[in-house]
Amino acid sequence: MPSLEDPLEIGVVEIPNRLYRAPLLECAGNGSDAVETLIADLEPAAASGVGLICQGATIVRGEGGCAAPGMTRVHDPEFVSQLSRLTDRIHDHGGRIFLQLEHGGLRSMETWHAEFRREHPALEQLAVSRPPWQLRALDRAGFLEYDPHVLTTEEVYDLAADFGRAAGYAADAGYDGIHIAGANMGIVQQFLSPFYNRRDDEFGGSPEARLRFLAVVYEEIRERAGEIPVMAKVPAETPAPPAPLVRRKLSLEDGIEIARRLEKIGYDAVVPVETSVAWDMSIARGEYPDRAWANEALQEGYDAAFGGPLRKRLVAAANRAEALVYDAEPAWNEEFCRRVRERVSIPVLAEGGIRERGQMDRLLGDAAGRDDTPPACDMVGLARPFYAEPRLGARLLEDDAAGSAERDVRVLCESCNNCTVPQAAGAPGICRTPSVLGRRGELERAGAYDRG
Ligand SMILES: Cc1cc2nc3c(=O)[nH]c(=O)nc-3n(C[C@H](O)[C@H](O)[C@H](O)COP(=O)(O)O)c2cc1C
Ligand code: SF4
Repeated sequence: MPSLEDPLEIGVVEIPNRLYRAPLLECAGNGSDAVETLIADLEPAAASGVGLICQGATIVRGEGGCAAPGMTRVHDPEFVSQLSRLTDRIHDHGGRIFLQLEHGGLRSMETWHAEFRREHPALEQLAVSRPPWQLRALDRAGFLEYDPHVLTTEEVYDLAADFGRAAGYAADAGYDGIHIAGANMGIVQQFLSPFYNRRDDEFGGSPEARLRFLAVVYEEIRERAGEIPVMAKVPAETPAPPAPLVRRKLSLEDGIEIARRLEKIGYDAVVPVETSVAWDMSIARGEYPDRAWANEALQEGYDAAFGGPLRKRLVAAANRAEALVYDAEPAWNEEFCRRVRERVSIPVLAEGGIRERGQMDRLLGDAAGRDDTPPACDMVGLARPFYAEPRLGARLLEDDAAGSAERDVRVLCESCNNCTVPQAAGAPGICRTPSVLGRRGELERAGAYDRG
């Protein structure tokens, strides 16, 4: 059975080991410091030995579609060409970097961010279909605001072409692969999901038709970016909300079938993720972030985002309820990944609540004969732990030169989510829990993040 240190091929690209940094919003924007911000965020992981860096979601269009403030747009070839400085830095350390492509659709800031809406009153949300009644009810109650523009068939092809164009620019800038944001309630999931997709053209109606958008995106990428590997997050909308609130959603079996069909289309790897139809904590499970909501310096930003103190308190209350539902169960996508892996022969990447080296070995099937359970995945990914420890790879991977990496190592991140809510206010994605940062300082001083 492979170990974390063994290489893996994703399509035509060899990844030097099986540890990846899962995508996390960098909030780097497109300004003059964007490339430096991305380098500062992503290079430490590569320098610590991580085999694959998945850059956080970037938007394929020049206007609208951002799920959060400060997302980087990749519609402009001039801008994307500057990202070669980032890809060069990652390659200097022997790592690989994939760019994640996305459009928020009904999840865009033009739906939920009060100040952004005021500043861009003419922006409509791109919609796969008319918003479901649950979202219209939230609109009527004043929590969300919709001016949806339902894509015509021709416009769906145009949007897919934008994914292809951005992939072409990324390939030119030295990216090693493309990652499609398919399971964070953005427009790709909205095409896949029966909750959102009620179309009656070739992009809706049957499970296969709901997958057609990803098939056309794939063709566009192949046409414009050659043989670059393409992978996608695959959603199963299993956890919530329950019936009768939501009856039409993707089951685990549906998610497995989507992964199987993606392989047939030509996708080179899949990342199965149990998620929700709503914009909740299902993809980043953990505790209610007390400290983040109480942070005085962020109150103004929260008020601007959520539309005043009352709505802010309601969002915080909803967040508290979600934290009860979405407990950070270890490796919560393990079963979904294992079920997908039984049905496909392309690599399966697992992420979500993976926190210990021993657990990683077990997921990869390298449990030194202690267990006959088949492997759940071919690579293991961590996201928030890289906010807490940007050079985490050095602690998790065996290093021939230094001979380090204890097998019982556990990451410092406590899944407390203090890093998540501030991003709604445009604050950068960093670990904000002092006890964790204090322990990182101790490890730094002890040389735990040095590589030989
Ligand atoms: C602040 C934050 C931003 C995220 N941004 C992205 C993103 O841009 N694209 C994506 O596919 N997933 C995103 N995710 C989900 C992560 O990739 C990952 O699946 C999730 O955090 C669970 O892994 P973890 O428990 O190791 O953090 C984000 C998660 C968090 C907490
Ligand atoms: S604030 Fe720090 S410890 Fe808490 S979830 Fe984020 S990275 Fe992990």
